[in-house]
Amino acid sequence: MDSSNRIYHCLTAQQLSLNLLQDICELADKIRKIAKTKEGMEYLASLLNHKRAMLYFVQPSTRTFLSFYSACQILGIKCAEVRDPKTSSEVKGESEEDTVRTFSSYFDLIIMRHSKANFAEKIAALLNSTNRPVPVINAGSGKDQHPTQALLDIYTLRRSFQERGGIDNKKVVFVGDLLRGRTIRSLAYLLTKYENVKQYFVAPPEFQIGSDIVAYLDEVGTDYEILEDFKKVLSEADAIYMTRLQDEWDAVDGTKAEIDFKRFSLTGDDLALLKPDAVILHPLPRRDEIAVEVDTDPRALYWQQMRNGMWVRVALICMIFSKEQSIIDYCSNNI
Ligand code: CP
Repeated sequence: MDSSNRIYHCLTAQQLSLNLLQDICELADKIRKIAKTKEGMEYLASLLNHKRAMLYFVQPSTRTFLSFYSACQILGIKCAEVRDPKTSSEVKGESEEDTVRTFSSYFDLIIMRHSKANFAEKIAALLNSTNRPVPVINAGSGKDQHPTQALLDIYTLRRSFQERGGIDNKKVVFVGDLLRGRTIRSLAYLLTKYENVKQYFVAPPEFQIGSDIVAYLDEVGTDYEILEDFKKVLSEADAIYMTRLQDEWDAVDGTKAEIDFKRFSLTGDDLALLKPDAVILHPLPRRDEIAVEVDTDPRALYWQQMRNGMWVRVALICMIFSKEQSIIDYCSNNI
């Protein structure tokens, strides 16, 4: 493990180097092994039991919130939460910036999901300028970024392809509302760090991948294709990454998504077109874009992908608080 791979705030996918991704994934593997025994779980729970975390989730979440909550519990970190700004002094007119700065007075880590793009970055810069900076983890910001989801996606792909040369040289097909889906935006950045990965973006023209991502792919020389016909690429894919229509943004954007999403859905009949060793991912929650009958196919990994999120988040928090060497030492001595 490269000790120069430090991380303090986790704000965007672009900040995560390939070495850091590898270190976090390897650490998550070690943590899973340690967690298999009661003694191991007790050891993990002793690592950061002097720390407190605030989970500021003012946008809906099930799995990101719960997996961070569980990750903190695994490490012994005590958690508090604000999930509804109506229960905080924001209703008295306090700014969001002052609200989050207040958290830094009481907690050692702020994990935040927010409807505004770049808000986590803004808060991290603000806290850096105070005499009590604490690490900030972006757990989903606006339509912009979801770096820890991309981390768990990379971890899942890495495990899936470990017998096939890793993520390098694979074809990854993104399907759905790619314009407003922050998970695919963050993952598109991370995939550029691997050798010769081709990305396909399959969406209705109204919800195609943003021009800023396309510009980035051009800048770094990544191979990609933008298309509308999902079935055309099914048989080529090493990984299919399905996403739902993000119509909660319609009211914010003043748009109305009247799209027949059946064209961007995976059914039981489609499975015959997929490679035998392809993997099917989804950040979840899903609606109809993956038929429930697909769940029992061995290539459907989205429930495992979701659980991987907890382990990767344990690893990330360990890295932030410089506990990776303790984990490595524990493994060497006990496993
Ligand atoms: N994938 C994901 O971010 O799910 P939640 O919105 O439930 O946290």
